[in-house]
Amino acid sequence: MGDTYYLTTPIYYPSNKLHIGNAYTTVACDAIARYKRMRGFDVMFLTGTDEHGQKIEERAVAAGKTPQAFVDGMYEDIARLWKRLNISYDRFIRTTDKHHEAAVAEIYETLYKQGDIYKSEYEGWYCTSDESFWTKSQLVDGHCPECGGEVNLTKESSYFFRLSKYADRLEALLASGDFVMPMSRANEMIQNFIRPGLEDLAVTRTSFDWGVKLPFDPEHVAYVWIDALSNYITALGYPDMTGDMAAYWPASVQLIGKDIVRFHVLIWPALLMALNLPLPEKIYAHGWLLMDGGKMSKSKGNVVDPLILSDMYGVDAVRYFLLRELPFGQDGNFSNEALIQRINSDLANDLGNLLSRTVAMIEKYFPEGLPDRRTAGPEDESLLELAGVTADRMAAEMEAFNFSAALHHIFALVARANKYIDETTPWILAKHDADRPRLGTVLYNLADVLRMVAVLISPFMTESPAKIREALGLKKNDPNDGLALDGWESARQTGRFASDGVKKGESLFPRIDMEESLTKLDAISGHSAEQKAKESEAENADQYSEVTFDDFKKLRLQIGTVVEAEAVPKSKKLLKLTVDFGAEKRQIVSGIAAHYTPENIIGKQYLFVTNLAPRKVFGIESQGMILTAEKADASLSLISPLDEVLPGAPIA
Ligand code: ME8
Ligand code: MG
Repeated sequence: MGDTYYLTTPIYYPSNKLHIGNAYTTVACDAIARYKRMRGFDVMFLTGTDEHGQKIEERAVAAGKTPQAFVDGMYEDIARLWKRLNISYDRFIRTTDKHHEAAVAEIYETLYKQGDIYKSEYEGWYCTSDESFWTKSQLVDGHCPECGGEVNLTKESSYFFRLSKYADRLEALLASGDFVMPMSRANEMIQNFIRPGLEDLAVTRTSFDWGVKLPFDPEHVAYVWIDALSNYITALGYPDMTGDMAAYWPASVQLIGKDIVRFHVLIWPALLMALNLPLPEKIYAHGWLLMDGGKMSKSKGNVVDPLILSDMYGVDAVRYFLLRELPFGQDGNFSNEALIQRINSDLANDLGNLLSRTVAMIEKYFPEGLPDRRTAGPEDESLLELAGVTADRMAAEMEAFNFSAALHHIFALVARANKYIDETTPWILAKHDADRPRLGTVLYNLADVLRMVAVLISPFMTESPAKIREALGLKKNDPNDGLALDGWESARQTGRFASDGVKKGESLFPRIDMEESLTKLDAISGHSAEQKAKESEAENADQYSEVTFDDFKKLRLQIGTVVEAEAVPKSKKLLKLTVDFGAEKRQIVSGIAAHYTPENIIGKQYLFVTNLAPRKVFGIESQGMILTAEKADASLSLISPLDEVLPGAPIA
């Protein structure tokens, strides 16, 4: 085995079902783990669950279960989710594991004995949802600065960890520039926490029970963050410093979301310093997946279920999307539309088509099998050159955790290969016997590139590589020198394709009908059409309550002239309108395509609400709403003035 590589995800709270945001970190870790294994590292990939604390205790009570029974059930669900997403973790730690609990007790004992922990009184504002304490000045409008939730003033006797003692060492560590990535997060921590003065940290609680009891004062329970952070070493056997601790610590990289940077770049290294342990090489804090511009979170209830998406689109599509769409260090929007677009363009159209066209042509033109190792000509150079450097380009991006850029390079090769088909026109070569050797070369090169692509995508996609190899009938090893054809080295070398005969299989990524799929997704996610109708009825009912004249005046109603109208591609319901309101033209998207064609309405005047906040429909901005009334047959009628009026005329 080669060098060791230890990487970790946060341990997630099993208080609710995990969502696509949790899956994001875990899938990213899995891609690194698979990549490093492929590069010959002895990888230890850890994930787990953070099972103690007040929030879990409360959730268990609400569910009518003991905390242990509650977390046991949640653990099963989480393990099943990771299995479904093909997460290749080597170890799963639960903070209720007996070894972990004993190790945490021992950590407190050690720190207490050496004076890094002392007893005092604590007063602060506690957010149960984030399990964190805040000082009054940190609160935002009296609420938790992290999640906006409620905080309670708490005063209790507590043990404190001398965090202040480590301020200088922490500042030097963060300023050094390679401990925290992206660097901006380190600067934030220095500015917001270290410079104003690090305070000692209350590291025990007496207000609840569900946690590790202090051996020297069993009234006190370990603060859940110290309990949780310790998992990264107790999972390796700490306090036993032989075995896995000796082999794998310090961690090569610890992946987290930016919401828990403070804990991982201040408290965690200080704790390790106090324990006299080496520090992890790197903490990488990625950005957030946003939903409609806001953070996706369990407490907000706007979460996306990775299981539903995997069932609908396949695990590889979900994994690919997460790491391709969003630049890892930054925030990015999650939307089902964007997911489907990526599947249709990158996976179905580019990769899927390349495979199916290549296999179909080999089957058709060389049913007896493709002759091995064709000599490439100068026309093939640009494709083969790119194929030869793609692995190294991808590797450079992987080292920097730029997953999207790594995938970009792989898919640039896929695109180049598709272009090569258009350039070489194999179907024309097939018409002349004299061109047969050339045809063989072209198809060989395509199959060869697909062989390389199957290796390169394997950190990201877990089922497609085997499907591609099967369709190509790829041999396990190159018959000439035994090089493994699914290994990294083979992805750096062209001319290695060797096959037992291609097999046309099912298409790798079937194209998805956007509108149909979104409707289905809505229905599965519990927002069925009927439910929506009920919701809007309820909204309507509300609207019938009395409003003041001032309220009414807030609504801006205007007549507009439709100057352009066109169907929204891939949608059966939507028309995109350009509407003239005299002073300005606006783009308005409306669900009237089933009732009106563009020709029906162009040049006509209708009633609009024009001071609604702009919103995106199918990715297109809509700057207002056209008004309709329902007809007896439940179809819709637009509302027009009886006489022509000036465009933009207000309704009074
Ligand atoms: O914080 N976008 O657990 P947690 C991206 N138990 N990533 C997201 C995300 C989003 N919208 N939402 C969650 C805890 N995550 C503690 C950790 S570690 C010693 C203890 C991911 O269940 C991201 O990795 O709240 C974030 O840091 C983590 O889930 C928080 O998970
Ligand atoms: Mg959280």
